[in-house]
Amino acid sequence: MRLELQTWPKVRDYLKRSKGIVVPLGSTEQHGPEGLTGTDHLCPEAIARRMGAAHGVLVAPTIQVGMSQFHLDFPGSLTLRPSTLMAVVRDYMASLARTGFERVYFLNGHGGNVAPARAAFQEFYADLSMAGRDADVKIRCKLKSWWELPRVDALRRELYGTSEGFHGTPSEIAITLAAWPEAIDEFKLAPPPSHGRNDLLEHSGDNYYEAADYRRRFPDGRVISDSALATRAAGERLIALAVEDLAQDYEAFLDSN
Ligand code: NI
Repeated sequence: MRLELQTWPKVRDYLKRSKGIVVPLGSTEQHGPEGLTGTDHLCPEAIARRMGAAHGVLVAPTIQVGMSQFHLDFPGSLTLRPSTLMAVVRDYMASLARTGFERVYFLNGHGGNVAPARAAFQEFYADLSMAGRDADVKIRCKLKSWWELPRVDALRRELYGTSEGFHGTPSEIAITLAAWPEAIDEFKLAPPPSHGRNDLLEHSGDNYYEAADYRRRFPDGRVISDSALATRAAGERLIALAVEDLAQDYEAFLDSN
């Protein structure tokens, strides 16, 4: 159930039975020579919309651009500054709180968004706490990246092992192959050369420097990932498990205090 395809009376009636909503959060950035720039928002969007349709859960308009400054040396990449993304997340929270929502589940598709999104939650709560309004406004936010959903995580490890890598991962490419078959073909290119362990540990969690440095380290855009292992069939399996996991995690979140 997409929020943008409802009328306000329908949303008012929804709020009588549920105070929850899912917000897909992603990015628009290069995903190697054969991956879609929208990969990181198309994946959480596809999972959230399928879960929402199956379980009658509202899904907000996707935040399609995230914190991707380190990809800007590749054409087609867009970024918000960390502070801009924080402002966007806070304004989503404020709007949803003002209109009656109390549980906002951000389903994330991009590692670079995690720190700004969590900081945005704390900014929002800090304003309430410091103004002494924390007893009035009851909004709870949760951030989960789709690859952390437990059965999805297990399947991607089983299918790809260390070839999963960190960017242009076969699991995310598989999901786009399944969700957007008209937009993307299965990959032909060999994986990028491996970099030392140090590069990986130093930069895990999208902890990169500026864009030119990223391009020097990862010239074709991918980080280790052997995207050519991705298939449409695997994408369908990953989406199906993600929908089930998300439904469970979302229900538990709704029931939490
Ligand atoms: Ni990605």
